[in-house]
Amino acid sequence: MTQTLTDSYNRTIDYLRISVTDRCNLRCSYCVPPTPFAHMNHTDILSYEELIRLVRVGISLGIRKVRLTGGEPFARKGLIGFIRELSALEGLEDLAVTTNGTLIADEMKNLKEAGLTRINISLDSLRPERFAKITGKDLFAEVKRTIEGALKTGLNPVKINTVLLDGINGDELEDFARLTFDHPVHIRFIEYMPIGEGSGPAHSELLAPAITRRLEALGPLTPVHRSAHDGPAQRFKIKGAKGEIGLISPMTNHFCATCNRLRLTADGHLRPCLLSDAKVNLMDAVRGSADDATLATLFRHAAGIKGKRHDLTGHAVHDMMSSIGG
Ligand code: GTP
Ligand code: 5AD
Ligand code: SF4
Repeated sequence: MTQTLTDSYNRTIDYLRISVTDRCNLRCSYCVPPTPFAHMNHTDILSYEELIRLVRVGISLGIRKVRLTGGEPFARKGLIGFIRELSALEGLEDLAVTTNGTLIADEMKNLKEAGLTRINISLDSLRPERFAKITGKDLFAEVKRTIEGALKTGLNPVKINTVLLDGINGDELEDFARLTFDHPVHIRFIEYMPIGEGSGPAHSELLAPAITRRLEALGPLTPVHRSAHDGPAQRFKIKGAKGEIGLISPMTNHFCATCNRLRLTADGHLRPCLLSDAKVNLMDAVRGSADDATLATLFRHAAGIKGKRHDLTGHAVHDMMSSIGG
């Protein structure tokens, strides 16, 4: 019988975000700390076999959507094979990935064939030099190829995630939005969140109300209704455009009331909330002798301690974004 996983505020939890690695081939200034930091040891991260077992347990409880994140998920070897295994699991309705798009320009067909349903690609600048400055690597052309390949392969909708950073890329808002005129992409503008020790803006002026005004200058904005597996974006279309605009505004207009997710870190902890350091250790159970019923109890416990909403007053999240997966 199909179960439903609910939290203490009666929200249904059907979305599991899995960070498969904390490693990344880019060094985005707002994500990676300026000083050296330690990565997880390979032996301390969940194997694909362990992950499949955990996803099976999640599905038995009501998980229907899985997103693979990182670090950069494709920095982990064998990810396409893992996607193939995941997509064969009965009960999963949506299998997506969030990637920086630099390592997979030639893999779109393979990914589609492996059963990936959707792809979200992070891209903070359309200007190759600026891209290199933000990410530390001159790989804009690769990301562009990935986006074009994803559109051609029909991994629809292709979503582009753009974190708006004061004084760095705010002047590109209109250029990004205009991409939706001719291409069926979803451009999502994201408010920077204070997570880990990346050198992002302490305070951003690029918040949803100001962004909306600038977008309206390009044409009338029509709201698009949320669909079943939607993430946190408020969706709009500029009149006549082929694609959509999304606003992800955790700081000015949080979406906690409709939150539907848990996060699994590469080192085997369930995090009920991105913006809280609370977590439940699954690793000890998985590597110990726990049966599936015990793992299910830990999933329920993680859902049970999920807060009503995030509260960032006076503090930032300590763990790094690359270890949580966004
Ligand atoms: P879709 O399912 O395609 O809508 O994707 P998504 O928005 O759920 O996932 P994605 O990985 O593309 O994340 C986009 C942005 O939303 C990133 O900056 C994430 O950190 C942020 N985000 C995703 N989920 C949450 C959440 O539960 N809370 C907060 N505060 N931010 C989130
Ligand atoms: N605030 C908001 N979004 C962030 N991302 C990474 N760090 C932050 C942050 N501090 C985005 C990435 C990627 C997604 C997983 O999260 O750009 O698109
Ligand atoms: Fe849910 Fe936490 Fe995200 Fe709010 S910040 S929507 S409570 S995960």
